[in-house]
Amino acid sequence: MFSWVLLVSAALFQGSQAFTGLRMRVEAGQSIAVPEGWTAEKKVQETEGISLVFAVKQRNLQQLEDLFWKVSTPGTKHYRQFLSHNEINDLISPEQTSIDTITTWLSEAGLDVENKCNWTKAKEFLSCVMPCYMANSLLDVTFSVFRHGETKQTTVRATHHYTLPVSVIGHIDFVGNVHRFPPVAKRTQRVKKSNGLVELQTPSSLRERYNVGSAIAGKSSINIQAVAQFTGQYYGKTDLSEFFKLFGSSFVHRADVDKVIGPNKFPSGGEANLDVQYIMSLGANATTWFWSTGGAHEKQEPFLQWMLDIANATVIPQVMSVSYGDQENSLSVDYMDRTNQEFMKQGVRGMSLLFASGDAGANCRNHVLLPFFPASSPYVTTVGGTEGLLDIGTERATLLSSGGFSNVYSQPQYQTAAVSHYLSTSKFLPAASYNRTGRAFPDVAAMAMDFMIVDELIPQPVDGTSCATPTFAGIIALINDALLASGKKQLGFLNPFLYSHASALLDITEQCSGGCLNKGWCAAVGWDAVTGLGTPNYENLLKAAMAQ
Ligand SMILES: *[C@@H]1O[C@H](CO)[C@@H](O)[C@H](O)[C@H]1NC(C)=O
Ligand SMILES: *[C@@H]1O[C@H](CO)[C@@H](O)[C@H](O)[C@H]1NC(C)=O
Ligand SMILES: *[C@@H]1O[C@H](CO)[C@@H](O)[C@H](O)[C@H]1NC(C)=O
Ligand SMILES: *[C@@H]1O[C@H](CO)[C@@H](O)[C@H](O)[C@H]1NC(C)=O
Repeated sequence: MFSWVLLVSAALFQGSQAFTGLRMRVEAGQSIAVPEGWTAEKKVQETEGISLVFAVKQRNLQQLEDLFWKVSTPGTKHYRQFLSHNEINDLISPEQTSIDTITTWLSEAGLDVENKCNWTKAKEFLSCVMPCYMANSLLDVTFSVFRHGETKQTTVRATHHYTLPVSVIGHIDFVGNVHRFPPVAKRTQRVKKSNGLVELQTPSSLRERYNVGSAIAGKSSINIQAVAQFTGQYYGKTDLSEFFKLFGSSFVHRADVDKVIGPNKFPSGGEANLDVQYIMSLGANATTWFWSTGGAHEKQEPFLQWMLDIANATVIPQVMSVSYGDQENSLSVDYMDRTNQEFMKQGVRGMSLLFASGDAGANCRNHVLLPFFPASSPYVTTVGGTEGLLDIGTERATLLSSGGFSNVYSQPQYQTAAVSHYLSTSKFLPAASYNRTGRAFPDVAAMAMDFMIVDELIPQPVDGTSCATPTFAGIIALINDALLASGKKQLGFLNPFLYSHASALLDITEQCSGGCLNKGWCAAVGWDAVTGLGTPNYENLLKAAMAQ
């Protein structure tokens, strides 16, 4: 009989080759390819610090999922009966044997766990800093320094699959900061010149279009909306003031973000400016948080750091807008499953999570449609994009709006009727393979083209489903404010509510997305894979929400 403690300590001295039979790969399917633009520079020095995040297996996952559906499904007696942070932690906190096994494994390798690691409150994540030789040996990898040519950003990653001793495997979902590269910190994105034919979007045009009228938040003292930002994207206070000077005179709004979590440095970036400027214009006068990860964590996986921070936070916003995604087929199912558990936990706590659907249309390669994750997660609300043309004066699907079907997650019940209607009635479906029984996205949409933002004090139009997401999220914050102020609970996970109140949205029926030969998905009557159920109508959604 071998024990893992002996194996790992021996591995430190002998090299791990002799023990390959007793270690196992986790995260099968995780891409270890170096993304375009990054090149390996050198091996990380033996003594240099490496930070690893251990996602510890959680308990009661079936109960978590049951609770998630109960609190999110209108008409049931548990609808919107959210759990507190402590209640969730008690439910999911890992088995003591998992905590002990991991602690012993790391201690035996020479790590001072008490001083070099932090647990989250429920102990479902362990974040450690250790010398590189120790990380290499624990995972049987070689960490290297990578540099991004264009941005000069650096990170440390391993390019062959890590393995774990068999006796540890059952206690860990995955180890973070090993394979997945951070997103590249582009300062300004999707900026373009207006061609004069399009209708430029401003806060007042969107408030009018989405029937917001003069509605503002601020009646509830606990209502919070937030935008999540990753590496290198910071918002500018002076950009925000200039934006409101130009576009904010017709409605009451806050002058600045109320709370910044994580770093916010100079210079600002287009994505962060867009998100803050538009969530604060639709969710006008709502308490607004800027939830950033990056900077100090630049070598970490920023999305993982965000998940960990949210799981560990006592107070979370009731709605969060996130413009982030990867190709589903580049991620391991272990990682996506755990990410979904984190989404469910936040849903059970009452948070609405909105993700941009992506800007690559149907995203077809060699006649296969490639979906994005978390857009393809059944446990979040995915927002696609529309556009308005001056000569039409109406809204139609936009080319870049991503949508499609997950190849990993099956279709949740809330959307099966809507999706099968689309597949059986749509006049056009892409000539490529996709999974009809998978989770279909997006769920909803909003305008995504020609948003006037102020970036580095220059007003300029930008495009993308990351315009649509904070727009929709701000409207949810207005509804939550009204609900909370009248003694009701906020909306929480939105999809069962939205699919059962489709008539509260404006159905978008014209035009197709691109991204697959000539045509991707086409908008149609009812749900479709470009604009979902349609775009928001604040008054209608408010009425439906208040009636519950
Ligand atoms: C979780 O939060 C507590 C304090 O609120 C902190 O001490 C701890 O370090 C955090 N854990 C992690 C992994 O960040
Ligand atoms: C643990 O938390 C402390 C205090 O927040 C921080 O200074 C330290 O860097 C953290 N260590 C790790 C390994 O995350
Ligand atoms: C804006 O919100 C604050 C609460 O943060 C509230 O006191 C104020 O009355 C609101 N403004 C208006 C015009 O309702
Ligand atoms: C299609 O999706 C289902 C889950 O809905 C999955 O079990 C199946 O493997 C997928 N098929 C392909 C070809 O990806």
